[in-house]
Amino acid sequence: MSTTETAAAPESLLAAPDQASQAEITAEIRATHEQADALEAGGRRVPMTLVDFPPYRSSILRHPTKNPRLVDPETIELWSPAYGQRDVAAIESDLTLQHSGEPQGERMTVQGRLLDSWGRPLANQLIEIWQANSAGRYIHQRDQHPAPLDPNFTGAGRAITDEHGEYRFTTIKPGPYPWKNHVNAWRPAHIHFSVFGSAFTQRLVTQMYFPGDPLFALDPIYNTIRRQRDRDRLIGVYDHDLTVPEFSMGYRWDIVVDGPDATRFEREEEH
Ligand SMILES: [Fe+2]
Repeated sequence: MSTTETAAAPESLLAAPDQASQAEITAEIRATHEQADALEAGGRRVPMTLVDFPPYRSSILRHPTKNPRLVDPETIELWSPAYGQRDVAAIESDLTLQHSGEPQGERMTVQGRLLDSWGRPLANQLIEIWQANSAGRYIHQRDQHPAPLDPNFTGAGRAITDEHGEYRFTTIKPGPYPWKNHVNAWRPAHIHFSVFGSAFTQRLVTQMYFPGDPLFALDPIYNTIRRQRDRDRLIGVYDHDLTVPEFSMGYRWDIVVDGPDATRFEREEEH
């Protein structure tokens, strides 16, 4: 079995049997948020991320229905992926240097800190990213929507946080892309992030978005997070100090892994 067959499928695979219109999905998002707010106002405890979120059609069948189980991390590690710091080369954090030519699109730096809820930096942590190219196309055999692949862009990178918890990637700004959640569904531009932790059982996955995206209100995945202030934490901030003159744009995005200021993370099944 090839790597592409075993890799997680992009959202474009997730065809829904009943194709609603965008207006219907947008109305469902609003109604679901209002329902959650009403439950909370009535004293019910409502999670910040609604994993069973009908506007995100495939979440209906895929969301976890059982409580998480404690597992022995050492047993899991006998089968799970593992890494060593020496396995990650510095060049892996520059997604524009992985081929013989320059990728198409808007070059950008994304830089930030990995922090715990007390604001303490988390050093020596593996951060992985994957993303579509500037035309919104993934290198994935089942992403066949008619946007061009870029022979000079794979869209995956890795970095290790430094002693200040800082990571930095050089990449291309990804484009929005269509998916099959509903008729004419488009994902806002985003970069997938994985924070490995010190063992595979600690791995967390989320997405970073870009400021001012007109697709935010329309996107069911972004809106599984029901409060605006929590959604805002997934949006990188344009930072002119991170731009490189004559070369690239810059965005800052900090990741907080626990506590009240935590970034909203996805369940394992979401991509
Ligand atoms: Fe994606």
